[in-house]
Amino acid sequence: MIEIARLDDLEPLARARVDTVTFDYIAGGADDERTMQENIDSYRQLHLVPRVLVDVSQRDTATTVLGTAISMPLLIAPMAFQGLVHPEAELATARAAAAAGTIMVASTMSNCSLEAIAEAAGPRWFQLYVYRDRAITRMLVERAVAAGYSALCVTVDTPLAGHRERDIRNRFTLPAHLKLANFAGTSRAIIPAVADDSGIAAYIAKQWDPSLTWKDIEWFASLSKLPIVVKGILSPLDARLAIQHGAAAIVVSNHGGRRLDTVPPAITQLPSIIAAVGDRCEVLLDGGIRRGTDLLKALALGAKAVLLGRPILWGLALDGQAGVEAVLQTIHTEFDHALALAGCPRVAAITGALVEQGWARS
Ligand code: FNR
Ligand code: LAC
Repeated sequence: MIEIARLDDLEPLARARVDTVTFDYIAGGADDERTMQENIDSYRQLHLVPRVLVDVSQRDTATTVLGTAISMPLLIAPMAFQGLVHPEAELATARAAAAAGTIMVASTMSNCSLEAIAEAAGPRWFQLYVYRDRAITRMLVERAVAAGYSALCVTVDTPLAGHRERDIRNRFTLPAHLKLANFAGTSRAIIPAVADDSGIAAYIAKQWDPSLTWKDIEWFASLSKLPIVVKGILSPLDARLAIQHGAAAIVVSNHGGRRLDTVPPAITQLPSIIAAVGDRCEVLLDGGIRRGTDLLKALALGAKAVLLGRPILWGLALDGQAGVEAVLQTIHTEFDHALALAGCPRVAAITGALVEQGWARS
């Protein structure tokens, strides 16, 4: 059992457990990693303005997303290749999500099949990357429906890979025993080793469809009854388009700073996006959430829930399922504590007045 004082303490511990190529793949961001750093800093620059003399003796952190009850407003972000850090890979993460009563978003790029993840998980969403061959998308959606996933999270910020210099320098590829399990037995299961580039960048350039447009969102919606979650929105204009094309939810995200560098953190875009969409869709957000107070700030500014990325992989690297459970427990406890100190007995009591929004007006 790992003991956690704060989630950030886990990164150096996880670093000691994995090889440099793996560590850099997880820790890295695009170009100068400015957006990645700003994701973290953005929360630290925001002030909470608590209310006092509210009875917080009974507290409830539970909420819902797209109608699914979850124990706290935090889901596990889709993250590729979890076999890099633990032999049980996505199965350990899925079991931890189920134990914690929250949603696992399973990546297209998993080392365990979406069916195997479904068996291990509780509530689950499937994250879709769109291949040039649309028969593959159709097949993935059908499999996700059959395996009981309750939403399709389409990631739209990746017409090409981000320019991740660590991965280029390291010639990132997967060790021979790790495959993309959703494509077992096909050439798409293998991330190539490339002499002068990141293998993942080469794979994406070859396989994924950079011609995606809003019309395709309607097509994904037509493939099944699953609600569509559009992940990777930063502009209020795109947030509106997402609704017009049928999205039930959006994830305001810069992909953990791994795509286009120097874009703003999700939290600073949230107020204008909430103003643009109102209550016409659920708005989630990710990038840089490390503390219970970060979660509270995101909700105060209008997010329905957040997604947690890298800390999950630190926990997985350190202690498999138990490590991920410890990470989820830590942020849950911090969030509950923050609710009490901010004068919010329940999630519904969180309002915009809890955050000093001077920066948002400037
Ligand atoms: C990701 N992310 C991601 N997103 C996605 O839609 N599909 C994917 O397969 C992956 N893979 C992936 C791998 C790794 C190693 C990381 C770190 C991230 C992005 C992820 O879902 C999320 O947007 C960010 O990680 C959130 O930021 P934090 O919490 O890591 O700061
Ligand atoms: C990444 C991809 C796979 O960020 O989403 O590495």
